[in-house]
Amino acid sequence: MTRPTVLINFAITADGKISTVNKDPAQFTSPRDLQRLLEIRGRADALMVGRGTLEADNMSMTIPPELKPPRQPLRCIASHAGKFDLGHKVFHSAGGAIHLLATTAPEDYDPGLYEAAGATVHRCSIQEFLHILATGHQVRTLLCEGGGTLVRTLAELDALDEIHLTWAGHTLLGGAEAPTITGPLGDHLPASLEFELTHFEPLDNGECFLSYRRKRRPS
Ligand SMILES: NC(=O)c1ccc[n+]([C@@H]2O[C@H](COP(=O)([O-])OP(=O)(O)OC[C@H]3O[C@@H](n4cnc5c(N)ncnc54)[C@H](OP(=O)(O)O)[C@@H]3O)[C@@H](O)[C@H]2O)c1
Repeated sequence: MTRPTVLINFAITADGKISTVNKDPAQFTSPRDLQRLLEIRGRADALMVGRGTLEADNMSMTIPPELKPPRQPLRCIASHAGKFDLGHKVFHSAGGAIHLLATTAPEDYDPGLYEAAGATVHRCSIQEFLHILATGHQVRTLLCEGGGTLVRTLAELDALDEIHLTWAGHTLLGGAEAPTITGPLGDHLPASLEFELTHFEPLDNGECFLSYRRKRRPS
């Protein structure tokens, strides 16, 4: 299936965690990490997060207007059941069109509530959703900003093309249950995914910017 190029961006601690055991908001990196995130956002036609990250990080999923972006990327939020809090900031801030994904909504699910709030609701798998974005909404590049649970699915689908990390050498969170970029430590992926390092930039503040590109062998 056709899909956009998929980028992910995360801040990780020295021990590879993206958050605490309690999934507190991710606030352990410097303003330079935020600046880099906004630069990467600028490449994206669409942003995507899981409902957990939207809520934990109270995101509006926009590029600040003072940066004068040529356009605001689409804002895509994934959920299984498709229940979203219409009081959330994302529904009340100017930005790209909102696309809600409900992968396993029940038969009697009513998307009308969200459509009345201006969102488009998709009831399909993540794979189909990526296809719809690419073919119906001209999304060539999609940036997934987490969390680990959502990225785990993308990794299982082998739908990750670039990984951007801010490695925070100054912070250790610990906790076996604290999530990583592919969620809680657990089962192996169905297959190993090979990436090559494309960018390595140590900063003078105990952080390091890293980028990786998926290495695909010709079939
Ligand atoms: N360090 C960083 O850079 C960074 C980045 C992002 C997030 N985080 C942190 O990560 C934590 C949140 O992690 P998380 O793993 O809970 O977040 P998540 O993946 O954003 O949220 C999980 C929820 O998203 C939906 N979802 C995820 N995968 C799905 C799939 N394959 N299909 C359909 N829906 C899917 C589900 O919503 P429903 O419950 O509605 O079904 C699921 O309960 C927070 O503490 C956040 O601060 C850190």
